Parts: sequence; structure tokens; C-alpha cells
Amino acid sequence: MRIELLNTPPDAQETRIEEQLRPLRMDDFTGQQRLTDNLKVFISAAKMRGDALDHVLLSGPPGLGKTTLAYIIASEMGSNIKSTSGPLLDKAGNLAGLLTGLHKGDVLFIDEIHRMPPAVEEYLYSAMEDFRIDIMLDSGPSARAVQLRIEPFTLVGATTRSGLLTSPLRARFGINSRFDYYAPELIEKIIVRASGILGIGIDTDAAAEIAGRSRGTPRIANRLLRRARDFAQVEGASQITRDIAMKTLECLEIDEEGFDDMDKKIMETIVNKFNGGPVGISSLAVSVGEEQDTIEEVYEPYLIQAGYLTRTPRGRVATRQAIKRFSTGGTTLQDYTLFNETQGQ
Ligand SMILES: Nc1ncnc2c1ncn2[C@@H]1O[C@H](COP(=O)(O)OP(=O)(O)O)[C@@H](O)[C@H]1O
Ligand SMILES: [Mg+2]
Repeated sequence: MRIELLNTPPDAQETRIEEQLRPLRMDDFTGQQRLTDNLKVFISAAKMRGDALDHVLLSGPPGLGKTTLAYIIASEMGSNIKSTSGPLLDKAGNLAGLLTGLHKGDVLFIDEIHRMPPAVEEYLYSAMEDFRIDIMLDSGPSARAVQLRIEPFTLVGATTRSGLLTSPLRARFGINSRFDYYAPELIEKIIVRASGILGIGIDTDAAAEIAGRSRGTPRIANRLLRRARDFAQVEGASQITRDIAMKTLECLEIDEEGFDDMDKKIMETIVNKFNGGPVGISSLAVSVGEEQDTIEEVYEPYLIQAGYLTRTPRGRVATRQAIKRFSTGGTTLQDYTLFNETQGQ
């Protein structure tokens, strides 16, 4: 049995569990220190002035806490939050409906904001800037433009691909926050907190083992924790010990670095099939049988940060470390171009 678990998006059931594990206050939100320190200042200042908080853009790989933070922002502001996502806003009318229902200081959360249709995006500009929207009533000869005022609100946008945001949209966010992968110590803290909520004990070294293989990602850490809880339960243990954690990780085929099958496939393909690269992202996507977007949003950022992959103008290139680890053909390091190093990148 193969469990596709590490990097898949959460399904409905998991979303419910995630909500249970979601910190509700800024002080329970672990890590991303600089980002949250700044936000605390902006939130206090806005509250002192009695203003809505400036629009906030949250960007970074999936599972790092963007949705969580959007909800925390609303709760710290003492406001309501309405939540939608870019692909759901297929008509300008949907957006107008949401905007006109907002009260002063409310948060409108748009997830995957880079996937909003351009026509809808244009409506958002005047809403963000002047708190008004111009909508067309009727069509043909009886068509007329009506201007609707909306209450000052805060747009919180989340995106895994900030590079895909148009510059006019990006320019309208006063606060631009980028999430980084979490250090293992922070993930360990998140695991210990989550295990408390899930009602299972965990040994420190067990939490550390799981943390080290969670790709710096709280969502993945929580997934592994729940699977470890299953193993503990079946064994009749009330505590996740290091042995149980190791057994879980082994059964799920997660290696020391938290790489899953697709990570390995991507690296093996670049190293062995494309001789270390450079290889274009579309050829790579075809070779590994995964969507180009998913590779760019989910897999690549971690492989880059872990030091296995670089992006060059000519394509993706494996690093020396990657070649040492993933080369299967008996070829030596000297056989590879190591394009990135010759380019000084
Ligand atoms: N800083 C954090 N501290 C504790 N738990 C976190 C943190 N960030 C994320 N999580 C947990 O990880 C899960 C995924 O977070 P989420 O906000 O949905 O990520 P994103 O929206 O970036 O994909 C949530 O269940 C949440 O409990
Ligand atoms: Mg999210």
C-alpha cells in the first residue's frame, strides 16, 4: 500500500481536523517571527486609529500557515472574516456581493488570489483603493454604471505563487508578507502543541524525529503526527515513543530529509535522465507525470531550499549534492555539466 500523503492538498475531512489544530491567536502562532512581529505592530496601530488594517498579501508554499494567519488577523482586529478563493470568484457579481456585505474593518480573505480571473481582478482595484465598486446594471441600450460604496475593509490575499500576481494587484497591498519553511525546532513545538490538542502524549525525541522529516511544513508535521497516533493506538500505547515514530516514518517511506516519492522522482529524473540539467520545467513535468504548477508550487521550493535544485535561465539544474545522492548510472560527478556552478549561481 502506498500512501500519497505528504504533499497532497487537504480533503474535506482533513480540513476539519486542521481547523481543530489551528491556532486562534497571534501568540499561539509559532514561528515566522519577523512577519508576525510586524503584523502585531500594524494591527495595534490600526486599532488605535480606529481604521481598517491595510491590505495584506501572504505568500509562500502550501501548508505554512497562510489561512491560519488570515483568521488570526481578523480575530486580533476584532472583526469578522469572509472567506473565498480566486477560482470561486468566476463572476464580478460574486465579488460585488461579498464586498457589499462587509462591515467596517472586516476581513475579506481570498485564497489562491493569483487564480482570480482578470475581469474580476479589475473590480477589486477600486474596491481596495477607494472602497467603491462600479458595476454595470443591465446590458445593451439600457445598460448603466452604478457606483456602490463599500465599508473600509481589509483584503487578505494568500498565494503560493506571488510571481504570478499582476503588478497593479500587488501594488495595492500595503503589507506584503512572505512565509519561510520552519526550522525543525519550531516544527517540534508545533507537533507538541498539536499532540496536546489531539489528546496523545509524545516523547521529545519522537517529536524531534517527526519534525526533522516534515519539510519545514506544519501541515505535513500534523499529518505525520496523526499517522503516528494511529500506530500508537493500534499498539495500545498512550504515548508516541521514538520507536513508534520511527516505525511510522518507515512505513510511510519518508526518508531522513522528508522527501517523498515525487521529490525523489523529480531529482532522479533531472540527475539521470537529463544528465543533471538544465531541463525546462515543461519537459520535467511530462517526464515525472505531474502538473507543472504543482512542481513549481509544491516540490521545487523545498528542493531548492534543501540545496538539491537550482533554477537557471535555461532550466532546472541539479546541484552537486543532488548528483551525489541521486545518481544511479555509475557516472561520476565530473560527467555532469553542473551548469549552475559554471554560471556562478
Ligand atoms: N505557525 C503555526 N503554528 C501552529 N500550527 C500551524 C502553524 N502554521 C500552520 N499550522 C497548522 O498547519 C495546518 C496548515 O496551515 P494552513 O494555514 O492551512 O496553511 P496554508 O494556508 O499556508 O496552506 C493548520 O492546520 C495549522 O494548524
Ligand atoms: Mg490555505
